[in-house]
Amino acid sequence: MKKILSIVLALMLTLSLFAACGKTEKPDAEADNSLQNVLDAGKLVIATSPDFPPFENLNDDGSVTGIEIDILSRICTKLGVDLQIDQYDFDAILTGLDAGKYDLAVSGITATEERKENALFTDPYCLSAISLVVPEGSLIQTKADVEDKAISCQTGTTAELYCQKNNLKNSAFTANADAQMALTTGKVDVWAIDKLTAIDMVAAYNEEHEDKLVVLDEPLTYEPYGFASKLGNDALIEAINAALAELIADGTVKSLFDSYGAEYVDPSVDPTV
Ligand code: ARG
Repeated sequence: MKKILSIVLALMLTLSLFAACGKTEKPDAEADNSLQNVLDAGKLVIATSPDFPPFENLNDDGSVTGIEIDILSRICTKLGVDLQIDQYDFDAILTGLDAGKYDLAVSGITATEERKENALFTDPYCLSAISLVVPEGSLIQTKADVEDKAISCQTGTTAELYCQKNNLKNSAFTANADAQMALTTGKVDVWAIDKLTAIDMVAAYNEEHEDKLVVLDEPLTYEPYGFASKLGNDALIEAINAALAELIADGTVKSLFDSYGAEYVDPSVDPTV
């Protein structure tokens, strides 16, 4: 009996030594202070490209409004910090995460497997799609019709990626409005853009112009949206995920979509069935 006890004790000692080694070996630089830093600063700094209604858009006074801004301000309330909104071009936002100038990228960002190699995403909070927009009366009616057509899209987006992967003739624009203008001025035949933004921007355009635009029904791809931080910022993303899960479960996220007149699709829905 004594022998067994001493073996057990020896084993425990060895294990605890291992554990202690593990701890001291971890360099300080690897410590994840991402959540603590935000709490200490008293603010969460987000980067957004506010040319993407109804998710983020500019008010007349230059302030940023939209579904994602409303979601983030609720998350900040739950974390007990202020929300600071910094504006960037869309194509600079994900690539700029590592520089550490902002905590979170919030820009209608599709959580793709490729992007997950370089950024840490929250759980998706909704499902969108990429749609095609054409002038009324266009012969383009489905995605099969765009093969040798000129397409516009926004630089750095999944729409651009889709065009590149499928060898389509695309012109990419830094500002979303310029991709739309390429279509309305006849420089391209079709504009590829996320569905809910397409619906919003097309409605605004059609209200003010004689010529009309149409959003085609058939989507190019499905796009789960999430927020992204630098790789390694697990503590921050975990805290945001917890807040986000509450806002989805209590219906807040859906009601925010409703208030912007946008259709909410749950990210767990399989749109292909
Ligand atoms: N969902 C697309 C993507 O992640 C487009 C996002 C564009 N966002 C913006 N704020 N302009 O690539």
